[in-house]
Amino acid sequence: MIGAGYLGSVTGVCLAKLGHDIIFVDKDKRKLTQIRQKKPPVFEPGLDELLMQVEVGVEEDLQRAVRNTDICFVCVGTPNNELNGHIDLTEVRRTSEEIGKAIGRNQLVVIKSTVMPGAMEKEIIPILEKNGKKLGTDFGVCVNPEFLREGTAINDFLHPDRIIIGEANTESGDCLSNLYREFDCPILRVDLKTAEMIKLASNCFLATKISFINELGNICKLMGIDVYKVATGMAYDPRIGDKFLSAGIGFGGSCLPKDLAGLITMARDEVNYQPKLLQSVMSVNNSQPLRAIELLKKYIPNLDGQHIGVLGLAFKPGTDDVRDSPAIKVIKELLAQKAIPEAYDPRAMTNFRTLFPQIEYRELKDVMKCRAIMIITEWAEFVELDYKGKIVIDGRRLAKANGAEIYEGVCW
Ligand code: UGA
Repeated sequence: MIGAGYLGSVTGVCLAKLGHDIIFVDKDKRKLTQIRQKKPPVFEPGLDELLMQVEVGVEEDLQRAVRNTDICFVCVGTPNNELNGHIDLTEVRRTSEEIGKAIGRNQLVVIKSTVMPGAMEKEIIPILEKNGKKLGTDFGVCVNPEFLREGTAINDFLHPDRIIIGEANTESGDCLSNLYREFDCPILRVDLKTAEMIKLASNCFLATKISFINELGNICKLMGIDVYKVATGMAYDPRIGDKFLSAGIGFGGSCLPKDLAGLITMARDEVNYQPKLLQSVMSVNNSQPLRAIELLKKYIPNLDGQHIGVLGLAFKPGTDDVRDSPAIKVIKELLAQKAIPEAYDPRAMTNFRTLFPQIEYRELKDVMKCRAIMIITEWAEFVELDYKGKIVIDGRRLAKANGAEIYEGVCW
């Protein structure tokens, strides 16, 4: 398992639980030490208990790990390049170089990291073959995208709704589908490019649903209609369904924004297509957090020097992940308007502090001393707070906050 971040550690520990021998490799030695000490290198509910139940190995030398295993899962990060939006393959390339030096007894290389459609064929296979080893004779290749959600990743891994196998050739696909033979779900076998696109398409579709309901919510709010009731009414139609129709402050995380930006830039730069719908999905999402600030300013027109409580920094509850969290846009705008944000999150303050060391991080009870409160993440512990006498701007529809003196939902 190359890469012991969210994806690698969940995949590795779950496969170990299913009876496979797992060796973790990571360039970050701390992560390996943590695994050795039976401490998960990332926060994911249930991962600590599962790690205690299994035996897994760690290996600092990637090439040795490859030589000693039958399948290498590549689970390294593929962040967005901040300048051009492209998915950054630096780590996948670096890892593939190393794998290419050690492979050769018909092992299988499985890319789990999200890569752009075509990346495997155009870039990664040539790197793997650089040292004279040939795909088909010396090694096999699959693309096996994951659909894990942070916070429920273990359950998602153990009970998937589908497994997508992109295969370079039938032997590679046979080998990987054999690994998954115990799973009770459809296994779709396609070519490499199609598998890569299925991953992006799935996340971009989810993003589209959210931006759709957020835009509808913005319209409904102006018309005095409750968008949550509209969504309930829509959801009876099985073609629409009830998932991912919770309107609010917008989507964040390490996946939806990144995959959306990646598909937009790929379409534009590589096949000269302007993806108008996807661009709008992104632009609606970028402006939702700013709508929350506009609502706040209805009651406090000049934010200069005002203490504003911010509840929730993680991009969603159940995680300490703040990547692309809507809280980032909210805090940036509060600071731009010279407000004094007082922030609390049960899990994500340490990570958020690395981005915004300059703001005040408080205990929950102290944040609740602020008159104005912005709810950014729907952590369960925010539900039962006493919002009486407060100005509450709610980005996540916490029903109880409705008892506030002034209550404004972002889309309702
Ligand atoms: C997402 C996908 O849901 C997974 O299927 C996929 O495997 C994963 O990305 C990935 O590519 O690795 P994740 O980023 O963990 O998973 O988070 P989601 O549960 O999808 O939530 C994303 C964002 O959308 C959150 O900020 C959440 O608050 C927001 N959201 C979700 C809404 O604003 N409204 C909704 O109705 C649903």
